[in-house]
Amino acid sequence: KVKAKATAEPKYKVKAKPKESKPPASFKVCVCGGCGGIGQPLAMLMAMDRNVGELCIYDLNISPMPPAGVAQDLVHLERKCTVKGYIGEVGQPPVKFMEEALTGCNLVLIPAGLPRKPGQTRDDLFKVNADIAKGIVEACAKYCPEAVLAMIVNPVNSIVPAMAELYKKKGLDPMKIIGVTTLDVVRANKFVGEETGKNPNFISVPVIGGHAGTTILPLFSQDKAGKLLPAEKVPDMDKHVQDAGTDVVNAKNGKGSATLSMAYAGARFGSAILSGLSGRKRTECAYCASTVTDIPYFAQKVVLGPKGIEKVLPLGELNEHETKRLAEVKEQLKGEVETGLKYAEANS
Ligand code: NAD
Ligand code: LMR
Repeated sequence: KVKAKATAEPKYKVKAKPKESKPPASFKVCVCGGCGGIGQPLAMLMAMDRNVGELCIYDLNISPMPPAGVAQDLVHLERKCTVKGYIGEVGQPPVKFMEEALTGCNLVLIPAGLPRKPGQTRDDLFKVNADIAKGIVEACAKYCPEAVLAMIVNPVNSIVPAMAELYKKKGLDPMKIIGVTTLDVVRANKFVGEETGKNPNFISVPVIGGHAGTTILPLFSQDKAGKLLPAEKVPDMDKHVQDAGTDVVNAKNGKGSATLSMAYAGARFGSAILSGLSGRKRTECAYCASTVTDIPYFAQKVVLGPKGIEKVLPLGELNEHETKRLAEVKEQLKGEVETGLKYAEANS
């Protein structure tokens, strides 16, 4: 019998040890308006984020679902985070429960506010929603001044400048107030995927400007699938992204606006913020104080890092259509930012 010759080489290649992945962080997150159409699915998705250690659901006693009920439901998910519900009373300063819900928060997601009905613009919601946002933002200033505040409540274009200026007046960092425009990116990616047959998971169209009508500007030319769109199709695709929110409002026929897709987009953004806070930087589009144009609040790519927004990125190269549209965006956005600044002036 011939014995197999022993060799110095191992018979099987030893697999390289997988890189140690960083253990997840344990952040405290509060969803204000957590029992609403967006709030509930958003809270569920955030409960599934590995970086969430404690999730608070805050809502008012007029909500059709008690926060304790949403929390008791979510607490059964096979996830490590604890979930607690906190209720506020309409017309009462929400001090006691807000203090508990917000103290120690790293991220506060704010979908609290009225949604549109068919025929309304987002601007029509300004007065009532700005007052709601102010109550919550002032409580955050008091109980979790270091937290990142992700403003979902509409009209984002005016509410964010209003709240950021209020933060500034309190000596706090206005960059902690961030408008969530991720749903516009999600929609642009999906529509480009449908049109080109490419997987929307691998499409990344930056959407700049703001979050209402004309101010929503998808930069199709900056994505490898988006740039395949025939030039004659681009204006329609652009309009499709601008009108997508209204399409949902009309289809819901008076019963609200986008909730599930917004929860998906809000969780994508919320998770990106937490990832940044944990030291793994992420880039997303967001609406915030900005100097990339001459409009003081603008949506563009931002780098999310250990303190929230670390860097506001330049717009990059724009083609002819996008350059023309940028002028329209600025024209419209100027007035909407002004509305927010005036509110801050009159209400601080
Ligand atoms: P909804 O009416 O279903 O829910 C809103 C929730 O906020 C309710 O549960 C309500 O009780 C609560 N709320 C009201 N005032 C509050 C307060 N002071 N404190 C705590 N909670 C309070 O509405 P929705 O469909 O979830 O939409 C919420 C907001 O999000 C609307 O303003 C809508 O226009 C906006 N929105 C934004 C985007 C975006 O892309 N940024 C997308 C969709 C909707
Ligand atoms: C959206 O874009 O779906 C939201 O801003 C809700 C709305 O009023 O359209």
